[in-house]
Amino acid sequence: MKKIIVYYSMSGNTKYAAEKIAKDTGADTLRIVPVKAYPDKGAKKFLWGGKSAVFGDKPPLEPYDFKADDYDLIVLATPVWASNITPPMRTFVCDNKEKLAGKKFAVITCYAGGGAEKAIVKLKKLLEIPSFEAELILTDPKDNPTEENEKRISEFCEKLK
Ligand SMILES: Cc1cc2nc3c(=O)[nH]c(=O)nc-3n(C[C@H](O)[C@H](O)[C@H](O)COP(=O)(O)O)c2cc1C
Repeated sequence: MKKIIVYYSMSGNTKYAAEKIAKDTGADTLRIVPVKAYPDKGAKKFLWGGKSAVFGDKPPLEPYDFKADDYDLIVLATPVWASNITPPMRTFVCDNKEKLAGKKFAVITCYAGGGAEKAIVKLKKLLEIPSFEAELILTDPKDNPTEENEKRISEFCEKLK
């Protein structure tokens, strides 16, 4: 099954997971980047991003090449922001609604400790699907490496293979 991991990452944790899983499973990767970067330092980091996630913003993305027809399984990887998916991931899903219809999906979320399940439910709703082929929840896998994160990554890779 040909797969791609589409990910957004502000501070590298989701990127770490996406790249590791791509290497293990042979998946392609696509990093999405908002045209206007979110502040990534200080109080603004949580205020701006959190507000944008709560309001369901869809910030424009830098141009990218996504050939949905090439893939059977799309893995969407996003940090959790305010118990929600990130705005750039919302943009990607909404901009590609037609291309994504009928695909299989898996999800990767990175978080600090609260709201990942809620974010996954919201992504399911946005995609209008009953369930994911596989779900992976990691606690800051780059900044806070743990055996539990690595175990979950391995189990997720097995499910994708
Ligand atoms: C704007 C903002 C909101 C966040 N909201 C949450 C949250 O609701 N729950 C949580 O556990 N972590 C939250 N976090 C932490 C990130 O989800 C977590 O550190 C994640 O691993 C970061 O991924 P990245 O390094 O790929 O950007 C938030 C971070 C930011 C910047």
